[in-house]
Amino acid sequence: MVSNFSAEQKMADKLEERRASHSIRKLIPANSSMIDFCSNDYLGLARSETVLREVEAEWKRLKSFGNHQLIGSGGSRLLAGDSDYAQELENELAVFYKSESVLLFNSGYTANIALFSSIPKRGDTILYDELIHASVRDGIRMSTAKSWSFTHNDLSNLEELLKKSTGTVYVAAEAVYSMDGDECPLEELVTLCEKYNAAFILDEAHSNGLYGEKGEGIAVAKNLHARIFARLLTFGKAAGCHGAVVAGSTLLHDYLVNFARPFIYTTALPIHDLAVIKMAVQNIGKQDQLRKQLFSFVNYFREQAEQYSSINLLASNSPIQGILLRGNENAKRISAKCAENNLDVRAILSPTVAEGEERLRVVIHAYNHPLEIDELLRIIAEAS
Ligand SMILES: Cc1ncc(COP(=O)(O)O)c(C=O)c1O
Repeated sequence: MVSNFSAEQKMADKLEERRASHSIRKLIPANSSMIDFCSNDYLGLARSETVLREVEAEWKRLKSFGNHQLIGSGGSRLLAGDSDYAQELENELAVFYKSESVLLFNSGYTANIALFSSIPKRGDTILYDELIHASVRDGIRMSTAKSWSFTHNDLSNLEELLKKSTGTVYVAAEAVYSMDGDECPLEELVTLCEKYNAAFILDEAHSNGLYGEKGEGIAVAKNLHARIFARLLTFGKAAGCHGAVVAGSTLLHDYLVNFARPFIYTTALPIHDLAVIKMAVQNIGKQDQLRKQLFSFVNYFREQAEQYSSINLLASNSPIQGILLRGNENAKRISAKCAENNLDVRAILSPTVAEGEERLRVVIHAYNHPLEIDELLRIIAEAS
């Protein structure tokens, strides 16, 4: 039967619903004259002149060899899009992340879709933390396996579900949660998964580059990497560029190459972008000083915030610091107040977070100054 409503009318109605609930989303170009408490560029590598110079030198080197895939790869990795350069980069990244193998993806989003849509099958069970990222949820939706969420970071709830799971069981968690900034109890999760023979998949999007001696992520920092089925390391956050790898066994690599549709049916990253990833990860390895500075600013932010009774901070030791404000309108108002004062901090609205959990998501960077942190807290406290 043909619907009475046109496509335009339906879309307009849905947008009106969003406007009415103050949750309409709009694109706001990043304003480089504002003080950045918003981007995921934790270490400042996305704006680093040093990385840019190294990337340009690498492009020049590749150009001098007459590299024909510099601008575009020409196809899927399985057709014209593979290169010695991509394979050498994967070998280098496997060494860096202490993994038997890694496979490159165009983004963390597609990598999560690839993992969850291609590996768990009908009769299997996926258990995921209730705060898991949308990309994992979307991958799970595309899987024929059944899935249950467990209460955030709640090991006993997870164990209850593990006991009644069937088939091969997969457990998904984030090392550092993208909206709350807290860590998962990694060692306990790994041990519990081993007890029930479940395959553990860890999303390190917000820990890659920040934890570990060279920024290899929390699993390596805690020496748990060899006990994890698959790790996702993305390059769009602390690495300051774009793309991702899934780290795991050679078997996992070969399986994804054969069965992961988001890997197979898409144009591979051009060498131009692979060179950026290569230089960015090499730089991550050298940024011990910036990591120390970043975490000292995180501590400073928390110490200062605790002096304001009107500021309701979520528990987090990472650069992601949530301030609960409750209500979309309220969160938007306070974010606008910050913007008026040249401070770029964004409100996270429901339905991105649960109703009543609306917040400002403050991101601390190695390049923020303590005086900027003071100013931010003063304005938020006054407006709250
Ligand atoms: C936890 C988590 N996983 C995966 C992704 C997706 O990564 P990417 O931005 O590379 O697509 C993000 C980014 O928002 C994230 O926060």
